[in-house]
Amino acid sequence: MAQTQQEFAIEIRDLHKSFGEGRYHVYSGLDVKIPKGLITFILGPSGVGKSVLLKHTLGLLKPDRGDILIFGRAIPYDKPRELNEMRKHFGMLFQYAALFDDFTVFQNVAFPLVEHRKDITLDEIKKKVVDKLRAVGLDPENTLDKYPSELSGGMKKRVGLARAIVLEPQILLYDEPTTGLDPVTRAMVDDLILETNAKFGLTSVVISHDILSALYSADQIGFLHGGKIVFWGTPKEFTQCNHEVVRNFLDAEMKHRKELEQ
Ligand SMILES: Nc1ncnc2c1ncn2[C@@H]1O[C@H](COP(=O)(O)OP(=O)(O)O)[C@@H](O)[C@H]1O
Ligand SMILES: [Mg+2]
Repeated sequence: MAQTQQEFAIEIRDLHKSFGEGRYHVYSGLDVKIPKGLITFILGPSGVGKSVLLKHTLGLLKPDRGDILIFGRAIPYDKPRELNEMRKHFGMLFQYAALFDDFTVFQNVAFPLVEHRKDITLDEIKKKVVDKLRAVGLDPENTLDKYPSELSGGMKKRVGLARAIVLEPQILLYDEPTTGLDPVTRAMVDDLILETNAKFGLTSVVISHDILSALYSADQIGFLHGGKIVFWGTPKEFTQCNHEVVRNFLDAEMKHRKELEQ
């Protein structure tokens, strides 16, 4: 592979995708460029195609038309081994942390290592799991042997994050990380996204409809509507955006804040 300096971690060019034999178009010419090292939020209402975008990025779904490049390289759909290698660039935190209920914290976090690093010893696995639990602010002594049902919502998120970074990925994908959380846990997750990106020098992509989290954590925000990105810019620019759909989305959120201030 040529050692060219890539400015972008992920580049999506003219992506078209429809379901139901072409009846339902999710994307019609989507262009997204995710710069390296930053935290990018992709916002949009439910059903707009945010999760489908993550699935394309991981090579789990194939575009009808268009290209997806990871660090400048097209996703190798037809080469399972290379595709598997490419996926190791990514860590993923799912909406509800998606821990295995019958596994302990140790087994959950160790899982990707056992799956992907066939040559690794048990001692090395233990060391990595302990390191990653510490990195996400958990005390390994008190958590390693616990089951997910014994953890608070915030701790589950932390364990899910430890599992997402255990293979030391370059890109971290979050699918709706703050949806359904109480305000305190949500604020904790916002900080965790910032801290993890800085600590590991990652590129983070957060798919969300949570405007307040985006304004707090994002370096840049993209807004997805009608199969395209209709806004792209900084959080400050986002609050000043005049696109009708973005405005409605923002005003609905801000309405509640104004009511609180009265
Ligand atoms: N495998 C699939 N087959 C058919 N339709 C799908 C499939 N995956 C997603 N969709 C549809 O694509 C649209 C976008 O889905 P999704 O990306 O999950 O939305 P969200 O922005 O809420 O994450 C939805 O209308 C969903 O029903
Ligand atoms: Mg979704």
